[in-house]
Amino acid sequence: MIDDLWYKNAIIYCLSISTYMDANGDGIGDFKGLERRLDYLHGLGITAIWLMPFQPSPMRDDGYDITDYYGVDPRYGTLGDFVEFTHGCRQRGIRVIIDLVVNHTSDQHPWFKQACSSRDSAYRDWYVWSNKKPANAKRGMVFPGVQKSTWSRNKQCGQWYFHRFYEFQPDLNTSNPHVQAEILKIMGFWIQLGVSGFRMDAVPFVIATKGPKVRKPVEQYDMLRSLREFLQWRKGDAIILAEANVLPNSDMEYFGRDGDRMHMMFNFHVNQHLFYALASADSRPLAKALAATKPRPATAQWGMFLRNHDELDLGRLTKRQRNAVFRAFGAKKNMQLYDRGIRRRLAPMLGGDRRRLELSYSLMCTLPGTPVIRYGDEIAMGDNLDLPERNCARTPMQWSNEAHAGFTQGERPSLPIIDEGPYGYEHVNVAKQRRDPNSMLNWTERIIRMRKEVPEVGWGDFKIIATGDPAVLAIRYDWRNDSVLFVHNLKDTPREVTIDVGLPKPVNQLLVNLLSEKHSRADRRGKHCLLIEAYGYRWYRCGGLDYLLKRSDIDAEGARSHPT
Ligand code: NOJ
Ligand code: CA
Repeated sequence: MIDDLWYKNAIIYCLSISTYMDANGDGIGDFKGLERRLDYLHGLGITAIWLMPFQPSPMRDDGYDITDYYGVDPRYGTLGDFVEFTHGCRQRGIRVIIDLVVNHTSDQHPWFKQACSSRDSAYRDWYVWSNKKPANAKRGMVFPGVQKSTWSRNKQCGQWYFHRFYEFQPDLNTSNPHVQAEILKIMGFWIQLGVSGFRMDAVPFVIATKGPKVRKPVEQYDMLRSLREFLQWRKGDAIILAEANVLPNSDMEYFGRDGDRMHMMFNFHVNQHLFYALASADSRPLAKALAATKPRPATAQWGMFLRNHDELDLGRLTKRQRNAVFRAFGAKKNMQLYDRGIRRRLAPMLGGDRRRLELSYSLMCTLPGTPVIRYGDEIAMGDNLDLPERNCARTPMQWSNEAHAGFTQGERPSLPIIDEGPYGYEHVNVAKQRRDPNSMLNWTERIIRMRKEVPEVGWGDFKIIATGDPAVLAIRYDWRNDSVLFVHNLKDTPREVTIDVGLPKPVNQLLVNLLSEKHSRADRRGKHCLLIEAYGYRWYRCGGLDYLLKRSDIDAEGARSHPT
């Protein structure tokens, strides 16, 4: 049955091993530490962990510069510790997906070193070379302002190599069948060690044509199908979650028209418009973005997120929209990055306003897709703008008010703990919030539980319901004869809206509030008049709580009884 696709309704938690929990006191998070925190994650209710790169690395890009795809960086533990960790997750019903960073290696990877050492090296053709500086060397930088070019000269061999990212991240020649075979081998290796899939880094660049003569890279979409095929044969329920910040008109190329390519993609398009909606209280561009990203195969899923470990990229908004988001959430120059985004964590962006935080996470949980939470967001952690580039939002997890926030017993954490101001660990930490029934942590736990009780979001078909007020966004989901409705008020003032949920009698008569006792009964015209406080949100079940008795086993029946 289609319900078997676990990722359609997962709650994914993204964390970086180096800043989560340090068990051996060297100031760097490790697998033993993480394993000891699995009960915490289990209690929070998340169902999958996206683990950021942990392979051996010189760590010049937080591990996205790998020197050995088949190992664990000794700072984090051993392969044995890794397997204990995946086993511990399985015991608790938590799946693990790991980063697959194969667009590039570290320049310290033995493959690259060998490729540089001799033009006859077997690894020569694993990278992308040019005899002279290519004309496009100043084009296509991913980190403008920090990265100077996309081609650099290797002193040893005198040739130029291509790097889409920093100069220490030489691009693999992903058109080379040997490289492609190696990528499959890497996937096969980790699958065998207990992971349920991969967050695939920089997918559009992995599949793009690369070379000194390439003016406009062309995506080789077929590659995605071979990755999928291999994975599915090795482990039927393993997935790929693609990092692909692309325009909606290419979404189907990534998912595959027959659902034969990527299982999931992060919805960057909705992400940016969501921030615009939060900044402007105008939901219309967001509704448009939802419509634009609606087409996808039934087996595919969007990853819905607010912030991640990178900057909030606003590059797809219009200039006016982007400036509105900058003004609202990152007005100062040191809050911005790469001429296109904001590098802060969510809580400080929203001024620590609990109402706005709840509104944002409520949206993340109820927009079409699977929510992806960033570690620390469940306690509303802050950032440290003194740290360079994206590191400001990658500080260690704040566990308690003990020394170094309970992250390490060592002297020096690898990145400084936030220890001053309103987001300092003495105020913002897990131990304190665990005891407080009204804390962000306990709210997050409750909203996760409730999200699990509305599988309609992950499985169902959605429809934007007219509210007559741009500040109020209403979305209805239908799935197997059941419907749920979510209403969000983006504005800082209360709003009253009258809506027609668009369902036949009697399901349209009653909206059962899932988060409070404020249910709604339709008026004589069958409409609901809803008064929603500033930044308020409502989760309703349409009809009544006997919905489980009415749920159908197949989709077709649902479609028949719920005409839209
Ligand atoms: C995307 C990752 O999210 C980012 O952190 C990294 O720097 C680049 N890919 C390069 O791997
Ligand atoms: Ca350690």
